[in-house]
Amino acid sequence: MTPSPDPKPLQYSALQLAWLHELGIDKPWLPGDTRAVPRVDTPAVPSVAQNAEAAVVIKNEVQSQTTAAAPTISPGRAATRGAASKPQQAAAPMSAASVAAMTALTAAAAAAAPDLGALAHAAAACQACGLCRQRDQVVMGQGVTQPAILVIGDGPGEQDDRKGLPFMAESGALLDQMLATIGSARTRDVYLTNLVKCRPPGNRLALREEIAACQSYLVRQLELLRPFSILALGRVVAQTLLNTDEPLQDLRGRIHEIDIAGQKIPLVVSYHSGYLLNHPADKAAAWQDLQLLRTLRR
Ligand code: URA
Repeated sequence: MTPSPDPKPLQYSALQLAWLHELGIDKPWLPGDTRAVPRVDTPAVPSVAQNAEAAVVIKNEVQSQTTAAAPTISPGRAATRGAASKPQQAAAPMSAASVAAMTALTAAAAAAAPDLGALAHAAAACQACGLCRQRDQVVMGQGVTQPAILVIGDGPGEQDDRKGLPFMAESGALLDQMLATIGSARTRDVYLTNLVKCRPPGNRLALREEIAACQSYLVRQLELLRPFSILALGRVVAQTLLNTDEPLQDLRGRIHEIDIAGQKIPLVVSYHSGYLLNHPADKAAAWQDLQLLRTLRR
C-alpha cells in the first residue's frame, strides 16, 4: 500500500497515542509513510514515576534495610504476610508489549480518576501485572484525606489482602503504636498506603516491573490526597520515591522533598515496622525519625 502524496495528520485518540508511545512506536508502520505519531501529553508525574525503574528487585526488605545483601525471607515479614491463603497458581508471564500496553491503560485510567473512589474502582479492574491473578482484594489505603502524614509501605500482606486494608497484621500494629507516640493515628491525621496495591505472593516484595505497573495509582493518590508530609518505610520505598540507590542509613535523618503536581512535599525515611519487629534495637532510631517528622507539623 502506498501512502497518499499529501497525507493528512494522523488521527489517534489519546489512549491510542499513549499505547503507541508506551510500545515505543513513534512512526507509523506502513512502508514509506514517514509521518510521525504525534506525542501525547502525559500528566506530570513526580519522581516516583521514574523511580520505579530504579528500584532494585528485592525480595526481602527486612534483611536488607541497611545493606544490599542478598535477600532472604524474614521471620517478621513472614509473620505479617504468613502462608499463602490459597494455592499459588503458575502464572503465565505477560509479554513485554502487553505489560507496556496494560501499564499505559492503567496510567490513563488512574490519571483520569476524579477522586479516590474512582481511583479504587479503576484499580479493582486492573490487570497491569501478574499480581492481579492471585489477589483477593486490591488494597488502596486507609486513613484521612489531606493527611498530616502519608505513610508508604511496600505492599499488602496476607491479612491486608483478605481485609482489603493496609497494615492489618503485626507490623501494622507496631506502626500504629509508633504513630501514637507522635499523637497521630490512621483514624485521625494519617493515610496509609503502599507502593503496590496487590499482595505479592509468597512473602516476597514487589518486583521492579510490578512497582512500575502500579505507580500511576500512587501518583494519583498523592495528587488527590495532598499530604502535608510523607513517611517512607524501608529501603525499597525510600529509594523508589527518591529515585536513588543511596543506602537507607544515608537517607534517614534528613528531610527530603518530592514534587507532587508542582508542590514540594517533605519526606522522611525510616525503618519498616516489619523490620523493627525483628530488630527492636533499631526502634530508638525509628523514634528519632518520627521526631524529625513531628518537627514538620502544620
Ligand atoms: N502491610 C502493608 O500494607 N504494607 C506493608 O509494607 C507491610 C504490611
